[in-house]
Amino acid sequence: MSQTSSLVQGEGGYPFLPLDFPAPTSLLAQAESRRIKTQASLGPTEQAQRGQYFTPLKVAQLMAGLARLPGQSAVKILDPGAGSGILSVALVSYLLAEKPDLEISLTVVENDATLHPALLKSLRELEKLGSVKTFLVGQNFLEWALGTDQRFDLVIQNPPYAKLSAQDRGQKLLRSRGVTVPNIYAAFMLLGVQLLRDGGQQISITPRSWMNGSYYARFRQDFTALAGLDTIHVFESRDRVFADSEVLQEALIVSARKGVFPDQIRLTSSHDQHDLSASRTVPYTDVVTPDFIYLPATDRDAEAVSWMHQHASSHLSDLGLGVSTGKVVGFRAKELLSQTYLPGAYPLLQASHLSGGEVQHPRESVKKPQWYIGLAEEDKKALLPAGTYVLLKRFSTKEEKRRLVAAVWSSDTPSAFDNKLNYIHQAGKGLDPELAQGLALYLNSGQADNYFRVFSGHTQVNAGDMKKLLFPSLDQLRALGKISCKNQDEIDSAVEKILSKSGED
Ligand SMILES: C[S@@+](CC[C@H](N)C(=O)[O-])C[C@H]1O[C@@H](n2cnc3c(N)ncnc32)[C@H](O)[C@@H]1O
Repeated sequence: MSQTSSLVQGEGGYPFLPLDFPAPTSLLAQAESRRIKTQASLGPTEQAQRGQYFTPLKVAQLMAGLARLPGQSAVKILDPGAGSGILSVALVSYLLAEKPDLEISLTVVENDATLHPALLKSLRELEKLGSVKTFLVGQNFLEWALGTDQRFDLVIQNPPYAKLSAQDRGQKLLRSRGVTVPNIYAAFMLLGVQLLRDGGQQISITPRSWMNGSYYARFRQDFTALAGLDTIHVFESRDRVFADSEVLQEALIVSARKGVFPDQIRLTSSHDQHDLSASRTVPYTDVVTPDFIYLPATDRDAEAVSWMHQHASSHLSDLGLGVSTGKVVGFRAKELLSQTYLPGAYPLLQASHLSGGEVQHPRESVKKPQWYIGLAEEDKKALLPAGTYVLLKRFSTKEEKRRLVAAVWSSDTPSAFDNKLNYIHQAGKGLDPELAQGLALYLNSGQADNYFRVFSGHTQVNAGDMKKLLFPSLDQLRALGKISCKNQDEIDSAVEKILSKSGED
């Protein structure tokens, strides 16, 4: 397998890695104690509604350290949803430490007036530094952003997290301007980028949820069309980053530049803001794709993605194939199911019929009904025509090493599939048997499984996820279908060998 990434433990240090923060100056130390005091004064209901989870100083410093130092002598900064102003203090301190002559114009937006006294204190402190001018906007950021014609060089933000219902005023306004987002944090991110000048940079800390899944697909497309991601920092700890706010979201920091799309992307990760970082650089297209944003957590994950992108490029639909979930829901169709064969019954395939890469039906050890006796026209809708299909388990148990478990089923009568199975078909009918064998072998390979794990955060294998999985060409799948393998090593070697040849061979 080719290796395109390198893991450098503890390399580099500031600004990318949170190893040796300079000891907080009194300005930063004051901002931190103001943050903690302000956070502690918030009522829990209001805090949750307004998404008021403030950024600990070390995280704020890590974010600030990602800022590109401006070439020009003046810089315009925006901090939307500024809270007590910790991000602004960290960023301005960092920029002035690196470039003391820089003239800074800082705009902060915060619509909770009860936070303004703390925020204004932060702004006054910054203004004392001399070349810093500050502006506090007390409005709803969504409305302000859609109305202003100002543009910024740098946006730094920890946006609020709250679902946006269709009835929400902000959501209606966004929709009227063509912005569709499921959560207010995504609106902040998108509007933040829109308010950048070309080449400007946004540094944000958000939950990880926008990186995959259909819910955020439109947002991902809009965001990545507008801005190129250059650094992603993943905090592996779910609970420690915002420990003092009891937030249980997996957090990540993303640095993106408007209209600048790099060839490489830097991925850094740390357990939380207190430990060592790991860093690797990977090709941009291994991370940002039309379907997902991949975050290979380990070198092995990065290799799996890179291998797949070099060897496979088709979705099932490109191959003229479809994937669906079995149509029989056991508890809804009890009277149509039977444990024993009855004349006229059709085979009913359960996940437990798959074993050792094969389908065994009927099978003594299977406790669930194995026959379908839907003889009425209406009930026959659950049947698939006679033919060959690839069956794929939808659920793996914790003990199972693999997520993808596939096997070929052939029948000269129609059959029914339980809904704990997915099946691959051609326009609702069976597949040519060699192709089916090849598909099953490929799905059972280590390469397919490792790749699947990187983009699917859960143990369930949804038909939707299968539609996003990459496959080799039909010729390669048929070539795989001719090979018989006895064990996992042989499967992986066969896949390596056939997929390393060009698709037309
Ligand atoms: C997650 S907190 C982050 C605060 C601060 N930036 C930090 O990092 O500590 C989000 C902030 O956005 C503010 N906020 C929520 N909705 C807003 C809106 N629609 N317009 C402006 N500010 C908003 C909240 O009051 C809160 O202070």
